[in-house]
Amino acid sequence: MDEIVALAKRRGFIFQSSEIYGGIGGFFDYGPLGAVLKRNVKDAWWRENVELRDDVVAFDSSIVMHPRTWEASGHVAAFHDKLVDCRNCKHRFRADHLPSLEKCPDCGMTGTLTEPRNFNLMMKTAIGPMEDTSAQAYLRPETAQGIFVNFKNIYQSARKKPPFGIAQIGKSFRNEITPGNFTFRVREFEQAELEFFVPQDGRDLEWFNQWVTARKKWYSDYGVRPDRLRFYELTPEERPFYAKAGIDVEYLFPWGWGELESIAHRGTYDLDRHIEYSGKDLQFFDEATKQKYTPILIESSAGMDRTTLTMLIDAYERETIVDGEKTTERTVLRFHPKIAPVQAGVFPLARNKPELVERAQSIERGLRAHCRTQYDEGNVGQLYRRQDEIGTPFCLMIDYDTLGDATVTVRERDSMKQDRVGQDALEGYLRERL
Ligand code: GAP
Repeated sequence: MDEIVALAKRRGFIFQSSEIYGGIGGFFDYGPLGAVLKRNVKDAWWRENVELRDDVVAFDSSIVMHPRTWEASGHVAAFHDKLVDCRNCKHRFRADHLPSLEKCPDCGMTGTLTEPRNFNLMMKTAIGPMEDTSAQAYLRPETAQGIFVNFKNIYQSARKKPPFGIAQIGKSFRNEITPGNFTFRVREFEQAELEFFVPQDGRDLEWFNQWVTARKKWYSDYGVRPDRLRFYELTPEERPFYAKAGIDVEYLFPWGWGELESIAHRGTYDLDRHIEYSGKDLQFFDEATKQKYTPILIESSAGMDRTTLTMLIDAYERETIVDGEKTTERTVLRFHPKIAPVQAGVFPLARNKPELVERAQSIERGLRAHCRTQYDEGNVGQLYRRQDEIGTPFCLMIDYDTLGDATVTVRERDSMKQDRVGQDALEGYLRERL
């Protein structure tokens, strides 16, 4: 993990937030490559779950919502972790992360831990110039509630009827007691949530299973190693009382299994609660049957920071290359081509030969419309090494032959095999493989 964190910083994927001031726990920034990687992960989710479907509509709600929202959702009353302080070393722990409440894991003293007490994870903020309690609000701890409170606005304006879904990607905030494991547990993160509303026709579990299958396919399509991914079925004791089924999608991180996404059958709980608290009618009125009912909700909620981290860890490999007598090591990120921040690196064989530089730059500019490119120049070995480390699937070398016969050497990242491809055929060659 240390190697991946170091690479993430060195190559511009992820930085500690406010690093020059000593950092701030649980917050991270995405560098030039990380920002593109995360955007590609989000786009891949969006494409599959919204654009390629005719039964899911897009949505984007505000981060700060009416405080009553969080009373209705249950977050004010129950979105707690148990907090324990050590009276000796003053460190703070989540009670469920402690092996015992007898001994402090940091200073080793016994009998110095306080009784566990509830700590609400919602981040507070104040609206307007008044800082009294009437102006207090929260930064949303999940994006889903924005969808629920808008259910009627959305189905009426989009002219949708169950079964249909509403999708949103956006920031959420949780005042985690112990953020950690790099970007796995943070205080500001992005969620991609899909709330799928189904009729009360007895097919709700079928829909739940369909979404589990769809999400399995998504991870597999983007190449996540199957032996590091599992779909853990929650027992009735592990599920909320209103949930009929629940699955946690988990990845085997270097520190063990960790949740990437939760898929849940939430019954009618969320809409019922907002109906009760707002006094508004959020039921669905079916014009065809002239009947009103509360749709059942199937939810898929994935963390985009955790998914991006998964893609980084899953892609990471240190490889020993044996070439006759010579062995060398390389670090390579085997990103799926669709999410790789750079898809084609283009270089001149020599940077002091203007004809080669000009040709390489012109080829790179020409390919920009078709894929994510990067022009670079320098020592050939170092150029390849750098592109391997950032996960670029194809490198194009412009050499003296290019000036004569208009062909280019294309090197593939994983096999390191080289092809000679005509300059005019490059676009098609890359399109087919990316
Ligand atoms: N609306 C349902 C919901 O929010 P959740 O299991 O609490 O469910 C869904 O969160 C996903 O959000 C998690 O599986 C995880 O990927 C991500 N997530 C939750 N808390 C997080 C945190 N502190 N840091 C990073 N990602 C987090």
